[in-house]
Amino acid sequence: MKPVKVGLLGLGTVGTGVVRIVEGNQEHLSSQVGSPIIIERIAVKNSEKARDIDVDASKITTDPWEVIRDPEIDVIVEVMGGINGTKEYILEALDRGKHIITANKDLMALYGSEILAKAQEKQCDVFYEASVAGGIPIIRTLIEGFSSDRITKIMGIVNGTTNYILTKMSQEGATYSDALKEAQDLGYAESDPTSDVEGLDAARKMTILGTLGFRTNVELQDVTVKGISGVSKEDIAFAKRLGYEMKLLGIAECKDEEFNISVQPTMIRSGHPIASVNGVFNAVYVYGEAVGETMFYGAGAGAMPTATSIVADLVAVIKNLKLGVNGLKQIIPYKTKKIKSDEN
Ligand code: NDP
Ligand code: HSE
Repeated sequence: MKPVKVGLLGLGTVGTGVVRIVEGNQEHLSSQVGSPIIIERIAVKNSEKARDIDVDASKITTDPWEVIRDPEIDVIVEVMGGINGTKEYILEALDRGKHIITANKDLMALYGSEILAKAQEKQCDVFYEASVAGGIPIIRTLIEGFSSDRITKIMGIVNGTTNYILTKMSQEGATYSDALKEAQDLGYAESDPTSDVEGLDAARKMTILGTLGFRTNVELQDVTVKGISGVSKEDIAFAKRLGYEMKLLGIAECKDEEFNISVQPTMIRSGHPIASVNGVFNAVYVYGEAVGETMFYGAGAGAMPTATSIVADLVAVIKNLKLGVNGLKQIIPYKTKKIKSDEN
């Protein structure tokens, strides 16, 4: 059986988790796809950095182009983050007929339609399950699980870092800065955590969920955003006294061909299931006209939960590759819906 060769861009929190799962579960994975999966090359920024995983030094490069241009590589797993540069690597890899798996919501929220159009042109897969809600398979669920229904609302906690901070402040009286530092040490936060705490990461994820759920083209600028940097321990304690928890909530609604999406700190009644989603956990509610209310819950960040989604994407891509098909892509362009104005 000819092995499937993977090029990994990034060996940080998530990349390390990917290597652990691919190597640790090799037998389980290869029995599903019918061939061994080999991580052939790995791009990092600093090849001298001490890492808490052993990898063959000959696989490491500091030049992502070497990975993209390697003719042996079938699939690129992009877990280095960033927008400019990363987009070029992905587009070039697609031009070379390589399939892509990415955890990069920044890129997918801004350039998802361009990347997916290129993938379609080149008959390649682009899977991005890990870009929203870490270990929760919400993207697959929206594309496939609810393809029969009309989604009217998607609501939830989609950022692990801010939920970790708010939980620590609420339950342990931690300071905002101590809780943020812990979230960074645990590998939950973005390299610049401003995007977590100011709500931009959640807005990017809601852009992706709104696009998939409402089957329209949501732009990042369509999302109203407010983060948690202005939320004090006093605000949280006050909410608690009234019987509420403070959560950074993303809410996307769609009615009569109009949609409205926001991310903001929100007081949730203590008995509500979302109020008890704590720490790095995320929860996404999806409301459909036919299905009614559904809820998805799980770790929203961290090495292993995120890598679980990435390697599941890898299995799906390799199965498609073997069958000579592509999957999880829009065939027909989305119909444009209007943004609901504030006056309505
Ligand atoms: P890290 O910062 O931990 O890792 C980034 C990796 O990419 C590092 O290995 C770094 O190299 C490498 N890298 C960065 N820039 C370059 C470059 N220009 N050339 C070559 N290598 C480069 O990030 P995470 O693992 O936390 O996140 C990766 C991606 O996954 C991001 O898009 C993030 O948003 C997304 N994500 C993260 C989650 C999480 O829980 N952390 C969850 C879901 C998605 P070096 O090691 O040498 O510094
Ligand atoms: N920084 C992100 C979060 C990582 O905390 O949710 C997962 O996308």
